[in-house]
Amino acid sequence: MKDFKYYAPTEVVFGKDSENQVAQLVKKHGGTKVLVHYGGQSAVKSGLLDKICGLLEEGGIPFVKLGGVVPNPRLSLAQRGIELCRKEGVDFILAVGGGSVIDSSKCIGYGVCMEGDVWDVYLGKVTPKKMLPLACVLTIPAAGSEMSESSVITNEDGDVKLGYSNNLSRPKFAIMNPERTFTLPPYQTAAGVTDMMMHTMERYFTKDDDMDITTDMAEALLRSMKNAVFAVLKNPQDYRYRAQIMWGGSLMHNGLTGCGISDDWATHQLEHELSGMFDVTHGAGLAAVWPSWARYVMHENVSRFVRFSVNVMDVPNDFTDPEGTALRGIEAMERFYHAIGMPINIKELIGRNITNEEIKEMVRKCSRDYQRTCGCLKVLKADDMEAIYMMARG
Ligand code: NZQ
Ligand code: ZN
Repeated sequence: MKDFKYYAPTEVVFGKDSENQVAQLVKKHGGTKVLVHYGGQSAVKSGLLDKICGLLEEGGIPFVKLGGVVPNPRLSLAQRGIELCRKEGVDFILAVGGGSVIDSSKCIGYGVCMEGDVWDVYLGKVTPKKMLPLACVLTIPAAGSEMSESSVITNEDGDVKLGYSNNLSRPKFAIMNPERTFTLPPYQTAAGVTDMMMHTMERYFTKDDDMDITTDMAEALLRSMKNAVFAVLKNPQDYRYRAQIMWGGSLMHNGLTGCGISDDWATHQLEHELSGMFDVTHGAGLAAVWPSWARYVMHENVSRFVRFSVNVMDVPNDFTDPEGTALRGIEAMERFYHAIGMPINIKELIGRNITNEEIKEMVRKCSRDYQRTCGCLKVLKADDMEAIYMMARG
């Protein structure tokens, strides 16, 4: 069992009308001038943005607004946010939206408190020592950024998507009202659940499989999400199951399902090249890669895949054929992805055949010019990455 630190400092305020507490929470966490950061249109259309701004006004908290964050959030907008915060003397960022808005806020938070280009943080050239505090009003459960230490930013110059993790960036508070997710379209709902499940699967498929509490919790969460997604796809206004998904998304990426084990993250690394190059929805990209990754690496720990098949995917255990049982679990996951409208290969993801040149370019980027490996269950070199992309091309 690996030694571990569990650090989840975010104050979670969960439930109906929880956004009504926004002004008092900002004050409690020291904000005196706020950047309200948001996305394209959903928070405007639903009236949430106006409500939040009204509550800040009533609470006597001055603020400036910056909208326009797109999925796979762009560096250029974060750079505009950094300038705006400096000009306006902002000392607290409030993200109203999902992973993209929160990640853009994290990038702005780093940038305001450093000299030089914030992209250097994502390139690993600079380690931030401080950042502006931030918090969020979550509108889509998926990325888990509302409690995580990570952010992922796309630099339009070269379509490079890079992640950076630092405990400084864990939000001070996260307001989560499941009713705010009723308007999510089916595709975003399904991609969100795919992403959150993957956050736990990236940790579950490990060689350190002696931390039973972590494994049992992971399996319970995965089963809950599988169950809940069908309920909300059938009835988008099902509060009970929207709430399971919203809380599940946080628990599956706040470190809880990684305690005592090593994590892998190869599927995420392989996917980031897909969303960097084709601007696809992150969760859908994960579904397109995972089955091929799983088939490629399962021999590293067949018994773990057998356990997943039986305990998560309800596959009968054929004790005479562990590999067969493991494979049937991967096939069951593919059926699950299709049932919720997710792709299971790159062709289904981007709607055409990917070219060999495009695969080579993704391998180059994912391996950082053939200098880095990724993954832990099986350490993937550039050749392995290429083999998985080829298997996943469809
Ligand atoms: O821009 P608007 O109009 O708000 O539309 C958004 C967006 O198009 C829409 N949406 C959000 N809330 C809605 C809604 N539509 C209707 N009703 C609502 N209540 O949903 C779309 C997707 O939003 P986005 O914020 O992009 O989704 P998500 O939370 O999945 O975030 C994805 C980003 O997070 C990164 C991904 O790589 C991707 O860039 N990740 C961040 C992580 C982290 N920080 O820890 C970990 C993840 O693995 C992931 O990599
Ligand atoms: Zn993810």
